Amino acid sequence: MMPKDIISISDLRRKEILQLLDLSAELKVKRGKDPMQALLSNRSLAMIFEKPSTRTRVSFEVAMTELGGHALYLNSDDLQLGRSETICDTAMVLSRYVHAITARVYSHETVLELAKCADIPVINALSDAEHPCQLLADLLTIRERKGDFQGLRVAWIGDGNNVCNSLILASAITDMHLSVACPAGYEPDRTVLRHARELDGDVMVVNDPKEAASGADVLYTDVWVSMGDEKEEGERLRDFDGFQINENLLNHANPDCIVLHCLPAHRGQEITGEVLDGAHSAVLDQAENRLHVQKALLVMLMAGQ
Ligand code: CP
Ligand code: NVA
Repeated sequence: MMPKDIISISDLRRKEILQLLDLSAELKVKRGKDPMQALLSNRSLAMIFEKPSTRTRVSFEVAMTELGGHALYLNSDDLQLGRSETICDTAMVLSRYVHAITARVYSHETVLELAKCADIPVINALSDAEHPCQLLADLLTIRERKGDFQGLRVAWIGDGNNVCNSLILASAITDMHLSVACPAGYEPDRTVLRHARELDGDVMVVNDPKEAASGADVLYTDVWVSMGDEKEEGERLRDFDGFQINENLLNHANPDCIVLHCLPAHRGQEITGEVLDGAHSAVLDQAENRLHVQKALLVMLMAGQ
């Protein structure tokens, strides 16, 4: 049984994630070949964006088109929401027009409020706390490359941010061992770590990238300055010095390690161009898989609408 909304990756249990990945893989193979893909004909998706996006916006819109439905891109500044109509009124009105809402927001509270007031499914398309759709694509990528999750060693190098929070919960749900290496002061949210441990997750937080990367099957990083953190850019670039994924760090991981980055990337900051574009990198598969997992997610959430 799927939940109504996907606000956190932990809204899904292991069984639902595996079902979703199976459907994603099926839709991926059958893309463009099978009429069964028109699973969402006459369905509409409202896509609210408070922040920029390339992958999330395009993959959701193409997903709806290929499933026979329609997606509306709604920049929050162009909505009455931007002129102080309440989040709740917006959610209730959209529920009368469309069949699901996806929202990329600054504050996690905004997407929670949308979900509380909407009668239709609400999907978090990135908040300051989580990026669940990204993690679904990452799990599909890891499964494609490694076959299974059980016992894999994953290392996160960099900021304990929204993507890291979702990775912590996703690793706990899928039984992967996770080491998170952050500079002091940039560790992940304690509530998220506690939640992961309640889910029996094996997660370790350290301040040494080499310690985290040692023996890793998956190395994952993200930008040092997330959307909304721009004012801290100078300080962050100094604080994250030494937390780059480069050839030297890669040498501490398993020889068949894959490198993930949710993108957009800053070559020369959190990762070198050599590694991002190198043989271990799976970043383009990750980006492509956003399309396939979001199709599966939309189908599974909207099936009852
Ligand atoms: N990874 C990701 O969410 O990319 P966009 O910001 O381009 O959507
Ligand atoms: N942590 C980044 C992810 C971008 C997809 C941000 O929030 O800007």
